[in-house]
Amino acid sequence: MTRALRVELEANSYPIVVGAGLMNRVSEFLMPLMKSNKVLIVSDAFVKARYLPIVQRSLTDAGLDVNSVEIPVGEASKSLAEFSRVQDSLVRHQLDRGSTLIALGGGVVGDLGGFAAAVYMRGISYVQIPTTLQAQVDASVGGKTAINHPKGKNLIGAFHQPKLVVIDVDTLRTLPQRDIRAGLIEVIKMGVIRDERLFEMVEENLEAILNIEAATLIEMISRACVNKAEIVAKDEKESGLRMVLNYGHTFGHALEALTHYNRYRHGEAVSIGMNCAARLAVNLGMFSETDFQRQRSLLKRAKLPLTFPDDLTPEALCDAMYLDKKTLGGKLRLILPTRIGEVVIRDDVEDRQILEAIAQCF
Ligand SMILES: NC(=O)c1ccc[n+]([C@@H]2O[C@H](COP(=O)([O-])OP(=O)(O)OC[C@H]3O[C@@H](n4cnc5c(N)ncnc54)[C@H](O)[C@@H]3O)[C@@H](O)[C@H]2O)c1
Ligand SMILES: [Zn+2]
Repeated sequence: MTRALRVELEANSYPIVVGAGLMNRVSEFLMPLMKSNKVLIVSDAFVKARYLPIVQRSLTDAGLDVNSVEIPVGEASKSLAEFSRVQDSLVRHQLDRGSTLIALGGGVVGDLGGFAAAVYMRGISYVQIPTTLQAQVDASVGGKTAINHPKGKNLIGAFHQPKLVVIDVDTLRTLPQRDIRAGLIEVIKMGVIRDERLFEMVEENLEAILNIEAATLIEMISRACVNKAEIVAKDEKESGLRMVLNYGHTFGHALEALTHYNRYRHGEAVSIGMNCAARLAVNLGMFSETDFQRQRSLLKRAKLPLTFPDDLTPEALCDAMYLDKKTLGGKLRLILPTRIGEVVIRDDVEDRQILEAIAQCF
């Protein structure tokens, strides 16, 4: 079973193919889109060893001229130094305006590769083959690409939509359970912000998802991508609506920053953030205790964390929230749920209420 969906962005529209066993079929989806026969595949050391040969074979068998560049595993590769190495590789292998860069790997490879494609020769085609759940359900839709600055994450980047995304759920078989659970938060988040049925699907199929049952994953990932595609279609450059994707993230980003991005997976920090945002919404009388418990129990079943670590304080977290780049005019804009399947944007919540909700989540 293979699902094909489309992100509708007028001239920048692109297909997403979701299925099992797609790695050796990449050329089938790619060939109709190719303008020249040169391809550069960017991957990290792990993904290269495990998945590059099969993708490369599919492309060379189809007659493409395929080269590859490897970056070190980990977030530190979203750097100017690695960006520069990818540019060197594009130049060395003489990719031209009609060539294609393929990002094969997790969100790090996708963000770095996408940004390299966005600026090389003022922009060449870019294809994503995401191999982590995080990258499949989140980074694959939206066209955000970026590298980090020593002073902050994703500070240097561009919007550059891929021409194609190929999601092979079989790649999740090699992904550690911790990363599956952390990636799942973006699906649960999508359920809370706009799709109660998706939330229910995770509730009903959690074990199948964690056991990497292909049919369930294809269904769930497609639905998560469709949701994100609908949001992005209405707000490609993140001016308003797209902010709802930040549910749990303002709290989560503060926690990630205070723990130097090395204690929690992004999804784990967001899980705590969603629990806290939901608590705040209950305190404000806008979200029922029943729905709060429903979200809480799903996060708990997924073995995602719910509480802040003891070495931090509510004050430090609240201060760090103001440093997150998503504040507007000095005001915190919070995404708060009203029920499972609906959120609102609030910029009128007082600090003492935020502090109280954080304190309840220790
Ligand atoms: N552009 C966007 O819209 C967007 C959205 C969300 C996250 N991101 C970015 O994505 C990054 C996080 O992505 P990530 O969680 O995928 O991290 P990642 O790319 O670092 O991958 C995590 C780890 O998993 C390994 N890995 C990748 N695929 C694997 C597989 N199939 N089996 C086993 N191991 C595998 C990688 O080698 C790495 O060690 C962050 O930099 C974040 O800013 C971007
Ligand atoms: Zn996220």
